Amino acid sequence: KKISVVHVPFTLGSHRRGCDLGPKAIKYAGLMESLQRKNYDVSEKEVGLVQVEDAQNPVLKNLSSVIETGNRIAKDVDQVIKSGTFPLIIGGDHSIAIGTIAGVAKNYSNLGVIWVDAHGDLNTEQTTPSGNIHGMPLAINIGIGDERLTSIYHFAPKIKPENVVIIGVRDLDPGEIALLNEKNITCYSNCDVEEHGIARIMDDLQRKFEENGVDYIHLSVDLDVLEPYLVKGVGTPVQGGLTYRETAYLLKEVCKWNKLVSAEFVELNPLLDERNVTAEIVVSLINELF
Ligand code: ARG
Ligand code: MN
Ligand code: MN
Ligand code: MN
Repeated sequence: KKISVVHVPFTLGSHRRGCDLGPKAIKYAGLMESLQRKNYDVSEKEVGLVQVEDAQNPVLKNLSSVIETGNRIAKDVDQVIKSGTFPLIIGGDHSIAIGTIAGVAKNYSNLGVIWVDAHGDLNTEQTTPSGNIHGMPLAINIGIGDERLTSIYHFAPKIKPENVVIIGVRDLDPGEIALLNEKNITCYSNCDVEEHGIARIMDDLQRKFEENGVDYIHLSVDLDVLEPYLVKGVGTPVQGGLTYRETAYLLKEVCKWNKLVSAEFVELNPLLDERNVTAEIVVSLINELF
């Protein structure tokens, strides 16, 4: 199997700088070697980004850079898929998912998305408490939000709300809760994982995707889904996260379904990390997936 590791060193979707260093930190933690050892045919590419800070719009910070970058990510991810290669995207803050999912969804009209995150990332310019676009990508992908963002890569929406599931969430803003309810999005909080166990939840999800006729799935892993003591290198930590074992189980199970067409690991900020340990966890998690 061919894998293309797509570096997306973008940080302007978050209020903290440093996610732009994420791809290098993951590389130096040994990602390529670990995949080569398993006999994958792995290549790398870096998306050319536009990163110019602007404070023009306080509820959509750095909007122009997010839009331009999103289009470039979409084009590169689209090309990787069309060449028969699996795109493994390493970020970068979570705003890059606007571009990655655009690129993937161009190829699969009934795409399923598993959003593994402490947050819902379902804000819009009307509900955002921060103005940071990394708190919005899931809303944008279902077609809700500023038209300049929802129309990235010239089509909208990218995904249907009924094909989205969120796992590990524990910090939702009021506007996000309203949107979740309005769109009836399937959501398993950290408490649901505690109550039902990750194995039962994954079985439920497998059935759900089957019922929806979803044959292709994109996996979006925001590292802050894990317990903060395990992942020091994230900018928006929230207590009560998933354990390493639960996260690994989730990834292994998704892989077994044989529907995974792309995956991304985002929100690593090496400036907040200790001795690159969070990047090493990313490499381990990626190796659980493949
Ligand atoms: N809900 C908060 C906001 O909108 C935090 C979002 C954090 N998102 C992330 N991808 N880490 O600003
Ligand atoms: Mn998050
Ligand atoms: Mn099972
Ligand atoms: Mn996120």
